[in-house]
Amino acid sequence: MPENTKEQVLSVRDLDITFKTTAGPVHAIRGVNIDLYKGETVALVGESGSGKSVTMKAAMGILAKNATVNSGSIQFSYHHADGSPETVDLLQKDKKWIRRHINGKRIAMVFQDPMTSLDPTMTIGKQIMEGMLWHFKMPKAEAYKKALELLEEVGITDAEKRMKNYPHQLSGGMRQRVVIAIALSCDPDLLICDEPTTALDVTIQAKILELIRSIQKERGISVIYITHDLGVVAKVADYVDVMYAGKIVETGTIDEIFYDPKHPYTWGLLSAMPDLDTADDRLYTIPGSPPNLLHEKPGDAFAPRNRFALNIDDKAEPPMFKLSDTHYAATWLLDPRAPKVEMPPELKERIARMRTEAKKIEEAE
Ligand SMILES: Nc1ncnc2c1ncn2[C@@H]1O[C@H](COP(=O)(O)OP(=O)(O)OP(=O)(O)O)[C@@H](O)[C@H]1O
Ligand SMILES: [Mg+2]
Repeated sequence: MPENTKEQVLSVRDLDITFKTTAGPVHAIRGVNIDLYKGETVALVGESGSGKSVTMKAAMGILAKNATVNSGSIQFSYHHADGSPETVDLLQKDKKWIRRHINGKRIAMVFQDPMTSLDPTMTIGKQIMEGMLWHFKMPKAEAYKKALELLEEVGITDAEKRMKNYPHQLSGGMRQRVVIAIALSCDPDLLICDEPTTALDVTIQAKILELIRSIQKERGISVIYITHDLGVVAKVADYVDVMYAGKIVETGTIDEIFYDPKHPYTWGLLSAMPDLDTADDRLYTIPGSPPNLLHEKPGDAFAPRNRFALNIDDKAEPPMFKLSDTHYAATWLLDPRAPKVEMPPELKERIARMRTEAKKIEEAE
């Protein structure tokens, strides 16, 4: 679809966040931009500590108390019940307003561990009904009926009986289905899934992924999928934002990121992925560890871990270089004056293999 006919749901611009700590300020988010359109999925990927969760918490008005938003905007667009369009900057709204009008109603979140989002002392049924009763003042009988339908939608059988269960009476996979049912209960426009399958075993993971994908298609909602697992990304996302040390360092369509990655950090992430063909054959792990954002250094934050680093990397931060209308990467290697550097040949081979595999699957379908 051409860009201009797409309906933008979320636009994060120049988001910059610092945490106050006893050791000094931690500059966790350093100018993040994210675009999300209706019905599409953006995956936010990056190592632990890169700022994925903090970015999304800022949108939900649930940042920790020691956080300061230094600058930026998070424009969220939706429609009122009468169909009239609205765009609000979530950073300009107070927590109470976001709780009343946005959280759970227009933006819903699914977290990694279902036990942290479920109340152990409350029945499943009550927890699914809660949002509908609060946000829509729905009659109880109607909310009950809707809760039953939601349980069926997320693939839970014996819904009537399950309504009376407490979280501990369900398996991990079932609990995550319940959390998804709660997330869907108020018909959100945007679902944020933060590592929703990492606490589950592999076969259940695949089922939950499929469930999220099918619900999204059915309902036409937009999804932000936070994960460090590129294998998951390939299955769910339309676009990928690669995050490093509080910045998006590469953004592109799923094909651009998987088949034509340009940032050496993305090369590292792709190389570190377990290979489906050859069991657990990782090509390469990124050396070193993410920078300490307590002591920011000039230049490219990835430079100390980049085997292709240039002199300029220590002095100036790279801008986002444009590769296509949808593909950008922030690495000096893309500067016209930079020496020509190719991705590691092992990765090139892997990508060629992934392409062949994808073609085979396409042809089989
Ligand atoms: N309340 C806080 N006080 C101080 N630092 C914080 C706070 N919350 C987050 N941070 C820091 O902000 C950075 C980004 O954290 P964030 O939780 O967004 O990472 P993440 O990408 O979601 O990682 P993970 O994959 O482990 O969930 C980290 O360096 C983290 O230590
Ligand atoms: Mg996180």
